[in-house]
Formats: sequence, structure tokens, C-alpha cells
Amino acid sequence: MKEKISFLKNRIDLISPNKNIVPITTVIDSNEKLNIGGCSIEDLVRKYDSPLYILDEITLRNSCRAYKKALEKYYPGVSLPIYASKANSSLFMSNLVASEGFGLDAVSEGELLTALKGGVPNEKIVFHGNNKSDKEIEFAIKNQIKVIVDNDHDLSRLEEISDSLKFDLEIMIRFTPGIECHTHDYIRTGSFDSKFGFGIESLNKLFGVIIKTKHLKLIGLHAHIGSQIFELDPHKDLGEIMVNVMLQAKEFGHNIKELNVGGGLGIKYTQEDDPPSIDEWIKTVSESVKEACKKNKLDLPVLMCEPGRSIVSTAGVTIYKIGSFKEIPGIRTYLSVDGGMSDNPRPITYQSNYSACLVNNPLSCNSKNKYTVAGKHCESGDVLFKELELGNCKTGDLICVFGTGAYNNSMSSNYNRIPKPAALLVSNGEAEIIQKRESPHDLLKYDVLPDRFIKQS
Ligand code: LLP
Repeated sequence: MKEKISFLKNRIDLISPNKNIVPITTVIDSNEKLNIGGCSIEDLVRKYDSPLYILDEITLRNSCRAYKKALEKYYPGVSLPIYASKANSSLFMSNLVASEGFGLDAVSEGELLTALKGGVPNEKIVFHGNNKSDKEIEFAIKNQIKVIVDNDHDLSRLEEISDSLKFDLEIMIRFTPGIECHTHDYIRTGSFDSKFGFGIESLNKLFGVIIKTKHLKLIGLHAHIGSQIFELDPHKDLGEIMVNVMLQAKEFGHNIKELNVGGGLGIKYTQEDDPPSIDEWIKTVSESVKEACKKNKLDLPVLMCEPGRSIVSTAGVTIYKIGSFKEIPGIRTYLSVDGGMSDNPRPITYQSNYSACLVNNPLSCNSKNKYTVAGKHCESGDVLFKELELGNCKTGDLICVFGTGAYNNSMSSNYNRIPKPAALLVSNGEAEIIQKRESPHDLLKYDVLPDRFIKQS
């Protein structure tokens, strides 16, 4: 039974947080209650209510530093880690990654604006997307942000807009390297059948077209093969493939200075997960690029990578309050919490698994108490855990779900007009608000009732 919650005590890796389930600063305090970042979680909920997103600053910074350190160790040339902001985009996250020397990847004007306002230097931002609007392209060009070209339409829009603005633009191209990896279908992007990027077979033609453009300068290549990946081999293969494409581009007169290998390193959500460390992942990518460059007598390009989940996921937890119980004899007991699919759509979307504990009795675990943890939304599939073993618990108790820093807040919705939770940063015993809690009134802000309907009512 104790094994079930041993993840709370055994943080096996303080340097590579993605190998732990809980934030690095997690402790069980002298009252046997959960404490993260030096803050009592129970006290935080008393003050800030629930559901509550919490991010631990030390875990975040450790993840960033692990990437920086590994790149310095294994890649002697110049490198730039880029935070994939889709994992969790906010002024705070932009500011934090910038302060750690990271660049940032954005896929919309909203993410670009958040990055710039949060203090990420424009020259360290890259702009992705398979269907960028003209307005977004103009915004990127005017802010001198590097654009990653995804397809022919993208290229022709970029060409036309840069010509009309008379702005020179550095571009990278994204291609699909044809690498299969074992992850959920929805988050696998590197195989040939993907909506992203140019097919590898179309690159020669593309290189010929780009060299003739007036304002576009091809300086880099990009590929991203998927997310939550535990294998190292796909990224080893990717390094080699990218260097071969670099060589191909050279034959057309392009000087490829940058290789961006995307993100994808997995994290430990449950005891069964065993992802490689950040160090191992960077070592694999670096060595494969270095070897292939040596073999082909090429200068080392700037190596870029785009981690999202492995930067922010383990640093984040979500706290819920338990409400109703419903026992269906011989079948299951539902335990409902005050959030669910609107603050964490991952279980219903990808059947994702998480780990959790009771805030007021974290080490308690009774195999007889198997709960189906349901969200509060009007949807039967709104279930966060199918069978979660917890200690004895009752209405009003708090549950902490671990590993929710990535793709929870950023994918959250207002389904059922449920306001988004507040988000806190915890560090050294202090908690600071990084996202205010929405209220039901906030949700009315963008509704408009046309005048003639007002008159009627
Ligand atoms: N670069 C590109 C171009 C990407 O598309 C992604 C993720 C990343 C970097 C970052 O990948 P990461 O290091 O986080 O694995 N919503 C899904 C994940 C979608 C990932 C989309 N692309 C989830 O909740 O699992």
C-alpha cells in the first residue's frame, strides 16, 4: 500500500524534475500535511479558494537549468533552448524563461504578444503555425520575429507580405522527417501523415523556390516528432536526418545556420512512467547532430530545442475540493470535485493518467477506497481518475493532482460557464498570484445582447 504513495517521498532526481512526479520542494510538514514551495497547501486554499493551479518556482528553474547545463556540456557550439509556450503561456512564464536565458516558441499572435510583454527578446522568439493569418504574419514581421514556414500557402503569404512591407525576413522551414514514435496519436507529429510541415520529398523544389525570393532568407530547419516521448532513438535518428537535409539545402545555395529539433521529452505522471532525463535527451540529440556534421564535414549549426512539458509540467499541481460522493453498490463510488474537464481536458481528450493525494493526509492510502474522481461538468466523460486509491476522505477535503503544469491551464475552457481557476507561484514560503481567478461575471464580458432584444425583455 505504501508503494502507492512513495512518489511523495522519493524524489529520485532533483536535477531533472521530469523524472519525479511531484515538485522538487514537496514535503509533508510536521502536521503531516502537504507543503509545496514552503507553503501549506491547506492555507493557500483557505486564502485563494479552489480549484487552484500552483507552480513551484524552484522546480521550474531547475528544469530550465538542466537544459542549459546539458547543452553547454554536450554541444560545444552555440545553442538556444526555446520554451514551447503552448504548454503554459502567461506573462509570468514568459518572464521566467527569459530570465533563464531561454527563447520562446509561439503559435499565435496571442502567444507572441504574451512573450514580448513578458520580456522575451524578439530575436529569441520563433513563430510557428500551419495556418498563420496575414495579421499574425505582419505582427511577426514588424516585430522582427523569426518565422517557421510550414507549407506552400504559408510561404507565399510570407513572400507577399514581406515584399509589400519591404522587410527582410529570416525563416526556418519545418518538415516531417517520417519518424514514428510511441505516443498518443493526437500528439504525434513527425510521421509523414501529419498536418504540420513540408513532406521531406518536397524539399528540393522548396529550396529552389526560396532561393529566388527577394526578402526571405532561409537560415534554419525545424522538425518536431511528437510529445510525451520516452524513447531516445527517434531523436537520435532525427539529428542525423536534419543534418542530411542541411546538406541538401546547401546544394541550393542556402547557408543553414540553425537546427531546431523540436520538443517532446516525456515526464513522469505515474509510477509506471520512466522518461529519460533532460541530460540524456540533450546528450542524444547533441551527439547525433555532432556526429552527422563531422561525417559530412559541416560546421556545427546553432542547436535549438523546444521543450514545453518537461519545463513546466512537474512544477505544477492542481488542488480540488471534494464535494459529493455517490456509491453504486458493486460497481463504483464516484467522488466529485469542484473542477474537472474545463481546467484539465487531458483525461477526456487523451485518456491521460495522473497521480494524486489528499492534502491533509498525503501519505494515507487505503486500497479499499477506490474512487472514480469526477469533475463537476455536465458530461459523463468528465472523469479525472478512473480508480484512485485514497485514504479515508470526506466532503470538504482537498485533493492535490500532480504534473498539471503543462497543457492544463493553456488548454482550459469555460465549458458550462465555469470560471478559470486562479494560478499561484510558490517560492520560499511565499505565494504570489500569477493569474487572477475568473468570476461568472467576467464570463459575460464578451456577450452582447443586441438592442432590439433588450427592448423585448
Ligand atoms: N515544438 C512544437 C513545434 C510543438 O508542436 C510542440 C508541442 C512542442 C515543441 C513542445 O512539445 P513538448 O516538449 O511539450 O512535448 N496538448 C497535448 C500536447 C500537444 C503538444 C503539441 N506540440 C497534451 O496535453 O499532451
